[in-house]
Amino acid sequence: VSSTIPSPAVSVNTALFPEDSSGIETLSWDNVASFFPIKQRRAYLNNASIGALSTPVIAAVNHFMEDVRDNGRNHYPEWCDYADRNIKSRIARLIGADRSEIAFVKNTTEGLVHVANGFPWKEGDNVILADIEYPSNVYCWMKLAARGVSIRWVKNRDGRILVDDIRAQIDDRTRMVSLSAVQFSNGFRQDLAATSALCAEHGVYLNLDAIQWVGALEMDVRALGVHFMSLGGHKWMLAPIGTGFFYCRKEVLDVLDPPSVGYHSVDSTEDHMEYVLEYRRDAGRFEEALANFTGLWGMDAAVRIQLALGAARIERHILALTDYAIEGLLKKNYRIVSSRRAGERSGNLSFRHPTGDAVEITQRLREAGVDLAVRGGNLRISPSYYNDVTDIDRLLEALPFA
Ligand SMILES: Cc1ncc(COP(=O)(O)O)c(C=O)c1O
Repeated sequence: VSSTIPSPAVSVNTALFPEDSSGIETLSWDNVASFFPIKQRRAYLNNASIGALSTPVIAAVNHFMEDVRDNGRNHYPEWCDYADRNIKSRIARLIGADRSEIAFVKNTTEGLVHVANGFPWKEGDNVILADIEYPSNVYCWMKLAARGVSIRWVKNRDGRILVDDIRAQIDDRTRMVSLSAVQFSNGFRQDLAATSALCAEHGVYLNLDAIQWVGALEMDVRALGVHFMSLGGHKWMLAPIGTGFFYCRKEVLDVLDPPSVGYHSVDSTEDHMEYVLEYRRDAGRFEEALANFTGLWGMDAAVRIQLALGAARIERHILALTDYAIEGLLKKNYRIVSSRRAGERSGNLSFRHPTGDAVEITQRLREAGVDLAVRGGNLRISPSYYNDVTDIDRLLEALPFA
């Protein structure tokens, strides 16, 4: 009796890497909307909450899943290599970084926690926060009270976080300024150049929650002197939930002690039995183990779309849509809550009616096929690059009150 079990050839999935067949090659400003099925159904103006996914993102996720279905672990080395080289290079290009400065995270909070828990605090140190931060950028600092680290709060002025007010909070025990690059509640866009110059003047680290910035606005971390930056992929990146990345400027890589380590934090060989806890020489040290490749394949497609469209042009497109919305909203007697000063605008536009209830208005809009958010009692729209003026027209038509 032959004991030889016929071994089928390993099926090489030619679509292993979505570069081969995601359809992005044909995408342009003229047809980008056709890659977003939601565009046919709704005026979706809520990308600052959860961004709608495109067909290339879905295709890329499926490619990865199909590869594991058909080949199990056989392409594991290629996955790791592709994620580290190709995906990180593209993310780096989008934000003006080097791929060695990128680590995958599952959400913004995870990156912020790397900084909060990895920083070499001394009792009596302090960190500066704004008093309107999303709680992701609050709780990780509050927890440091147990290590003797305090928070110094910058009071917003009518929703604005002024650099002079940050300056007034800095003292000789300040080690870090941690801010949202764009505030979630009102879209206030931080003056990053001035904030980073202030930090440099005082030898203070600048840490950003950039989930409301990257994907909508152009970012150049190196030019702006950012030390650490985190964002989840599920908003303006239009990438799957559970993806994100953390930027750690290479000059400060050794400042943080990675708070959670595992077999991916070290330059591992395939021989897992050599135990040497020597961190990788890049930001990959913050990835303790296998990453969410399924989601990352989708994020890669989303990044490729943005690179194809161009971050500067995406920013111009989005600001033009919010300009158009402002004009129409004022005609309908809505009040603009977001700052309209030069340099302070972003993809998030908040507004309200003097008497109308925001929650009721949102409900009516939803029934009319228009999606937006309520934040702090105000209405908030967040159009992305696949939206156009017809979406804003639908909003303006469906808004109650003249
Ligand atoms: C400014 C800001 N930071 C963080 C988050 C949450 O991020 P994550 O779930 O990626 O940690 C949000 C929105 O949910 C946000 O608006």
